[in-house]
Amino acid sequence: MTEHSPVDPDATLEERDFESALRPKALTEFEGQPRVREQLALVLDAARHRGTAPDHVLLSGPPGLGKTTLAMIIANELGVNLRITSGPAIQHAGDLAAILSGLDEHEVMFIDEIHRLSKPAEELLYLAMEDFRVDVVVGKGPGATAIPIELPQFTLVGATTRAGLLPGPLRDRFGFTAQLDFYDDDALAGIVRSSGRKLGVNLADDAAYEIATRSRGTPRIGNRLLRRVRDFGQVKGHARLTLEVARGALELYEVDELGLDRLDRSVLDSLVRKFGGGPVGLSTLALSVGEEVDTVAEVAEPFLIREGLMMRTPRGRVATNAGYAHLGLAAPSGLSDSLFDS
Ligand SMILES: Nc1ncnc2c1ncn2[C@@H]1O[C@H](COP(=O)(O)OP(=O)(O)O)[C@@H](O)[C@H]1O
Ligand SMILES: [Mg+2]
Repeated sequence: MTEHSPVDPDATLEERDFESALRPKALTEFEGQPRVREQLALVLDAARHRGTAPDHVLLSGPPGLGKTTLAMIIANELGVNLRITSGPAIQHAGDLAAILSGLDEHEVMFIDEIHRLSKPAEELLYLAMEDFRVDVVVGKGPGATAIPIELPQFTLVGATTRAGLLPGPLRDRFGFTAQLDFYDDDALAGIVRSSGRKLGVNLADDAAYEIATRSRGTPRIGNRLLRRVRDFGQVKGHARLTLEVARGALELYEVDELGLDRLDRSVLDSLVRKFGGGPVGLSTLALSVGEEVDTVAEVAEPFLIREGLMMRTPRGRVATNAGYAHLGLAAPSGLSDSLFDS
C-alpha cells in the first residue's frame, strides 16, 4: 500500500504533529469512555491521597482509540514525566533495565505495543513491576552473578492492541486494566467539535456529526476526516464548514455513509461480484483486489465484519444480506440470515 487510506486506523508519520496538537491534556477533556475515565480518576485520586505511585495500568483496544493519549494524561495528572518506549524498540532486556534504573521517583513509564516485548525483557519486567528491582547479570557461564538493582517507585502504563497475546503473568501484574471500546456517534461528534475548536475552524454541528458517523467509532479517523474537510473547505473557499461542505469532502475522498473507504468497498464488491458472495479464502480475496493479505485482514475485514456486511465462516469469507444491500444489490434468494446462525 503506497498511500494511507483515510480510514486506516494507524497514525502516519506526518500525522504525529497534528495529533499531538489535538490531544486532550487532562482527564476531564478526554471525551467518551465514561467508565474508563471514572475508574482511572479513582486510581489516580487514591494514589495522590496516599502519596504513592499508582498501580500499573494496562490500556487495551484497537488503534486510534486514545491509549497513547491516556498514558500522557496519567503522567500529566500526576504532575510527573512520561518516559515513552515500545515493545519492538527494546532489543535486549539490558536496554529495559537501563531505562528503568534511570527513572525518577514516581515517574510514569509508557510501553506501547507491550505484547511485542521479547521474552527476556518481559521476564525482567515481572520483577521490576512487583518488587521495583531488576537483576542485572554480570559475566558469563558458571561465574555469572546476578546483581540486584533497586528501582525507584514508578508506574508502568502498557498499551496493547492485542490483550489476548499478553502472557497471564504479565497481565496479572497490572493493578488496573482499561479496555477501550469504539466510540458512539455522539461521543465522536463531541471529539470532532473539540478538535475543530482547537484548529480554529468554523464547523457546523451537523457537519461534525456527519464526520463522526463516518469515522468507524475511532477518534483518530474522526480527526483525520476533519482535516480533509478543512482542506476541502479552504480550497473551495468555504469559510464555514457546513454539512454540504463535509459531504462534498467525504465524497471526494471516497468515504461513504458507513465509513467504508475505497479498499473496503472493493473488497466487498469483489466478494459479491467476482465470487458470488463467497465463500472465498482471504488470500484469494486480497489478490483479487490487488492488496496485501495483511492490509485486508487488519484494516478492511474487521470493519466489514463489525458492520455486519461480511462474515467469517469455516469455509471462507461470505457476504451478508446487508453486504449486498450496501452495494445496492439484492441478495440471492438462497441467502438467509439463518445460514449464519451458529
Ligand atoms: N477520548 C478522546 N477524546 C479526545 N480525543 C481523543 C480521544 N481518544 C483519542 N483522541 C485523539 O485521537 C488521536 C489518536 O489517539 P491515540 O491516543 O494516539 O490512540 P492510540 O494510542 O489508541 O492508537 C489523537 O489525536 C487523540 O487526541
Ligand atoms: Mg498509540
